[in-house]
Amino acid sequence: MRWIEVDNYEQMSEQAAAVVINLVKEKPEAVIGLATGGTPAGTYKRLIDDYKQNTTSYENIKTVNLDEYVGLEKESDQSYTYYMDKHLFDHINLKRENIHLPKAETPPYEQDAKDYEQLIEDLGGVDLQVLGIGENGHIGFNEPGTPFSSKTGVVELDPSTREANARYFENKDDVPTHAISMGISTIMKSRKIILLASGAKKAPILYNLFKTDVTEDIPASILKEHPDVTIIADSEALALLK
Ligand code: F6R
Repeated sequence: MRWIEVDNYEQMSEQAAAVVINLVKEKPEAVIGLATGGTPAGTYKRLIDDYKQNTTSYENIKTVNLDEYVGLEKESDQSYTYYMDKHLFDHINLKRENIHLPKAETPPYEQDAKDYEQLIEDLGGVDLQVLGIGENGHIGFNEPGTPFSSKTGVVELDPSTREANARYFENKDDVPTHAISMGISTIMKSRKIILLASGAKKAPILYNLFKTDVTEDIPASILKEHPDVTIIADSEALALLK
């Protein structure tokens, strides 16, 4: 696991975007795994800027998102489908048929989750997975205690995750209780992973991640066993490690 410290959110976003752009140039048909949330929004903005300025082409790129809330309509502005369209997909030349998120809108959710795992396999696996990290150490929506062997499935969100994500909803109770998330073993099959973290709220978990042995209590700790993981974190997020 490599750790890269940058000064701030902007630099984190710049570095993460550079990793994505390099891959797109090297492998124009790559499969890229994407995350949502506050952390990668700046990275996506830079990808759009680069697309406009340098015409980096996503024509044959395929994307698979980590997760989607169960039971939200795709059009709902809290769905991850909506987030991805707004923050990235509507602005670059990715083909619609190459964009994938778990379905999760209506049942059968378990079957949709299985199909999504299969889809990732059929695409040949993920070349580069972009991850954020939850304040409790989750990756995707794999909460503490999730077996490392987990595959894509229906997961229950931790109360602390619903609390952390309530900022995007009008009402705290509107935050869905479940999501479909790539499993931990699914994420671990990605050939390369970058994990992004910014801000003081992530400082305790990055401290714990750095210090801990590999344990299911901190899902992100499994990344220590992956051969190609880079953590790109800003000074605030790394503040407790100094
Ligand atoms: C999002 C995801 C989550 C987030 C994490 C951090 O697709 O899978 O693991 O990356 O909850 O969220 P932010 O970036 O909002 O702090």
